[in-house]
Amino acid sequence: MSRDILRGDRLKRLAPESIEYTASTSFDGILVKPVVKINMAHMAMLINQGVVSRAQGSLCLKGLREMPETLQLDPALEDVHMNVEAFLVKKIGGNAGGQLNLAKSRNDQVATAIRMALREYQVNIVSELADLRKTILDRVGEHITTLMPGYTHLQHAQPTTLAHHLIAYQDALQRDSKRLIEAYSRVNLSPLGAVALASTSVKINRELTRKLLGFDGLVENSIDAVSSRDFAIEVISDLALAMTNLSKIAEEMVLWSSSEFGAMDISDGYASTSSVMPQKKNAVVAELIRGKTSTVYGDLMASISMTKALPYSYNIDLQQLTPHIWSACSITFTSIQVLKGMLQEAVFNKERLRKLLEEGAIAATDLADYLAVEHSIPFRTAHTVVGNLVRRSVDEKRAFRNVILEDLAGAAKDIAGVEVSITPSEVDQILDPEKSVELRTVDGGPSSISVKKMIVNRKKGVNETEEWASERRRMLEAANQDLVKTTDELIGGEKA
Ligand code: ARG
Repeated sequence: MSRDILRGDRLKRLAPESIEYTASTSFDGILVKPVVKINMAHMAMLINQGVVSRAQGSLCLKGLREMPETLQLDPALEDVHMNVEAFLVKKIGGNAGGQLNLAKSRNDQVATAIRMALREYQVNIVSELADLRKTILDRVGEHITTLMPGYTHLQHAQPTTLAHHLIAYQDALQRDSKRLIEAYSRVNLSPLGAVALASTSVKINRELTRKLLGFDGLVENSIDAVSSRDFAIEVISDLALAMTNLSKIAEEMVLWSSSEFGAMDISDGYASTSSVMPQKKNAVVAELIRGKTSTVYGDLMASISMTKALPYSYNIDLQQLTPHIWSACSITFTSIQVLKGMLQEAVFNKERLRKLLEEGAIAATDLADYLAVEHSIPFRTAHTVVGNLVRRSVDEKRAFRNVILEDLAGAAKDIAGVEVSITPSEVDQILDPEKSVELRTVDGGPSSISVKKMIVNRKKGVNETEEWASERRRMLEAANQDLVKTTDELIGGEKA
């Protein structure tokens, strides 16, 4: 194909090494469908406004309908926009086809197409996140009484339950989902009609194209409309945060499935072995979630830095930004999918988690709380008393329980000046992780009462997200139907 439809009589041929260098065709595939729809909506609007005759316009519309979704994009034509136009001109001739870009530029068209492809990804990612959250909540339901050590600094901290721990995953992912939903209101706005930058004197109707393309409003200022990509950078940063949360979960899966932890078995579908060490079972999927997170951070850095020094309005640096949007979207979407499967099939080792609780002095805080509440020792002093007992237990290799029974009275007297006597059954109560957990009935705590409350509330949250996604899908589909109907009528009742 010749590139003359663009360069016309103005420029000679592009240098061969500039062709691939400047083309966006290698990553424009995702924009074919939106670009075709934009052209249809734009042409329908031009006919409606009496700017283009119905005869010419409907010829364009018919041609656009015959555009293959898998249109082969020729790099010599620079991008998807020129490829679509060239296809049409070739099909229906330059008289009608040549009207396609009246009062429309690649600048407003590409911004519009990106927003259309992005909003679809957003809905899909949010709905995939809802599935993942549901999976997590199912696992939560199975493990309300599964005790485990809670960690800080990766050291045993306090007893908790697996359900409590897993709800923390859910809650982080719920925030990720909310961020993406909030960003949708800034993504789903139509830049179309901004044309190159200064709009047009042609009597277009931006409101009509907005409606036909399923946008909720306009990016009003025509210069802003073609210059801005902050809507996409906002989504990429939301995705970078979501990946951070997925990566933290993945990291725990790698750790917990190690022989040192032995707290979880990852199913074979998400593991690999070594080409030389046949005993190995490596959590490769989880490791790659961690690794791919860095790629998304790269997408964020690349795109945010690409825009910081751009003069207004359109500069083709913006073309270089676009593939980073799809990279971040596709990595996040697939990472959510694999993590969901992995969590569905993971087998938690309840016995091992329970056993881990018995090591060390995980009930130390409970003992300090007991001294503070029952014996009116100021908490900081109680903390010192218990710390003293823990040190003795470690240094003298004595069981923490024995140290409490034998040394607590003395330590409390020496350090706090308080008489404390404690019976073996009181010690057993304090050291019992089940009791410790069940006493934490505060909102957000690990007791089964608190956890069950959280489950009910979280399930409601998942339902709300699912409703949002299906409502958005319904609205986009309705706009699509409207576009088909409008073009049908203009073509003369013919179906696509
Ligand atoms: N391929 C371009 C992009 O992705 C489309 C806009 C080109 N505009 C221009 N004036 N060269 O941004």
